[in-house]
This record gives sequence, structure tokens and C-alpha cells, in this order.
Amino acid sequence: MKQRTRKTQNDTQITETLLTKSPAEAAGFIKRGEVAAFPTETVYGLGADLFNAAAIEKIFAAKGRPQDNPLIAHISSNEEIWRVAREVPPTASRLIEVFFPGPLTLVLPKDADVPPIATAGLDTIGVRRPRHPLAQELLRACRTPLVAPSANLSGRPSPTTWQAVQSDLGGRIACILQGEPTEIGLESTVVDCTGEQPLVLRAGAVTLEQLQAVIPETRLAGHDPAAAPKSPGLKHRHYAPQARIRLIDRAAPGVNTNNSGYIGLNQPEGSYKLVRVCGDTAEYARELFEFFRECDRAGVAEIHCQRVGEEGLGLALMDRLRRASQAGER
Ligand code: TXA
Ligand code: MG
Repeated sequence: MKQRTRKTQNDTQITETLLTKSPAEAAGFIKRGEVAAFPTETVYGLGADLFNAAAIEKIFAAKGRPQDNPLIAHISSNEEIWRVAREVPPTASRLIEVFFPGPLTLVLPKDADVPPIATAGLDTIGVRRPRHPLAQELLRACRTPLVAPSANLSGRPSPTTWQAVQSDLGGRIACILQGEPTEIGLESTVVDCTGEQPLVLRAGAVTLEQLQAVIPETRLAGHDPAAAPKSPGLKHRHYAPQARIRLIDRAAPGVNTNNSGYIGLNQPEGSYKLVRVCGDTAEYARELFEFFRECDRAGVAEIHCQRVGEEGLGLALMDRLRRASQAGER
């Protein structure tokens, strides 16, 4: 289908966003230099042909994304890594063997043919091979690696449903490939493999413990705010609903919570407007971003999020909760 656009009075271009369940149809848009959102096992991504700089510009424009935030290259096979990276260090090879396809992004030295806009001018590139069947079908149909950030407006929570993509980017992108709500709900683990030891730049569903079982030297990147951020995206405002986020250990009885939301592992005691009690950290992670959006739709002023232990997936969950709670202060 051909894409239709019209101009509004103030001259911003409105795009008709096609909803489809067909990876081949979504691939058609990408081959014509448009952008299309698609499901992965982590969150929905907004894809463009990695070798088409003009298409990549549309990603930054649609999201309102700062140009200094590099994108992740998505590949359909382990061999395809050579189209985007010029070197795969031995540590990366071992992680690929164990964790590809899956929710893991490896930062590697980039190939010279990758356009600078994809990596925000960096000499490295994040590479991930998603395991979601629709993402894999789309990548195969496109016959090219896709760059894809999360398919949200910059600063908003990542989308875990196609409806969330539509709500943020409807009218701004050509196509949404519709799938089920995503299985993990938090973005991939990002590991820098360009140094001596693998460095976790962003925690995710591939946990520090799992990485260390393969490469014991794997470390968490330090969070020295004065140092130049290793993962440029992490310095930007993130994951923020309109409501204020407060991290709590347990919901305190007697606090007036009539216009607040609560999400956590334990049943809260206050009378909240919206409550989500999750069975475990995996469910908490899966539900979190959609709960933020639900709270915004209900107009709640504050969301109380119960802290979890920082082991396993809890590390990634606490990382997102902390960033969301600090978002208003930056
Ligand atoms: O699960 C995910 O990773 C999702 C799905 C769609 O694949 N994508 C995603 O992309 O979360 P995005 O753009 O929202 O987040 C990418 C993160 C940012 O923090 C960015 O700074 C970091 O990865 N990153 C990308 N390339 C990098 C590089 N060359 N060096 C360091 N960090 C990089
Ligand atoms: Mg993002």
C-alpha cells in the first residue's frame, strides 16, 4: 500500500499509520525508506533500514529523539553481524553463542559502511538478534539489518503493546506491525564488548548473574555522573509517565492515596485509585510500563512503586524505577 500524507495548517506532516499483522507488508514500507514499528520480546521497536540515512532521520524526527543517542542494529542471523561490525572480540563470540537470539545487545567496533547517524557518530555499534518470531520474519523479509530504538516518544515509557505505539507515534510513522503484548516488558541488556572485560551498560532480562556464568569478569558499568556516559542514551530523561513516581518499601497505611496508583509484589494497605499486584519480578517487569500509561490515562498524580531486591531481573527493574522516579528532577 502506498503511504498517504497531508499537510496541516502549521505545515507539520501527518502520516497515515497503517496497522498490519503482515511482516511482508511492514517490510514493504521499510524497503521504500519509511519507518515501521514492530514487536520484539523486550519492547516494540521502531525500525528503519540501517543503510538508509534518510530513513534513519525519520526515526529521530518521529520520536523527537536527541541526535546524540545511538541506535541498536537488529540482525536476523549471527552471520549478519559482519554487515555491521568490523570485529567480534572473543568475549562477544561467547555471549553470542549462549544468548543470541534474545534480549541482549552487544556493543562492538562498527563497520565503516554503517552511516554515522545510526551510531550518533560513535565508532561502536550495538547489535542484537531478537528472538520474537514476528521480528525475525520482518528482518528476513527486509533483507537488511534494521536500526530500531524503542517505539515511544522520546522520554516516555517504552511501548509493550501496539496500542501504546499508536498512542505515541500514530500519525508520525508509516506502519505498525501488530503483535501480542511483549513477553519481557523491559529493554534489552546492553553489554560493551570493546574493552578487556564485558561491561553491562544497561541491565535487562539477560541478567548479570547469567552473563557472569559465561564470562566471570563481566562487570556493571560505574554510574559516575561526572564521567562521559558510556551509553549515551542513559543520560537522557527516560521511562517517565506524567505522574510522579515514588519508590516505596511497603505501602503505608493511612496515607491518602485516592489519586495515586500502586504497583508492587505485595498487596498495599492504602485505598489506591489503581492497583497492580504482581506475582513475581518477571510479571512486575512485564506490567510496569503499561501500568504507567494506564495511570496517565486515569489522570493519577502519583504512582507508588514497590522496591524489589537487586538480583536477577530485579536489577533491571530497579534501574528503570529509579530513572522514572528521577525523571521529574532533571
Ligand atoms: O530491547 C531493546 O533494546 C529495544 C528493542 C526495540 O530492541 N531497543 C531499545 O533501543 O531499547 P533504545 O534506542 O531505546 O535504547 C538503546 C540503548 C540506549 O541507551 C543507547 O544509548 C544504547 O542502547 N546504545 C546504543 N548503541 C550504543 C553504543 N554504540 N554504545 C553505547 N551504548 C549504545
Ligand atoms: Mg528507548
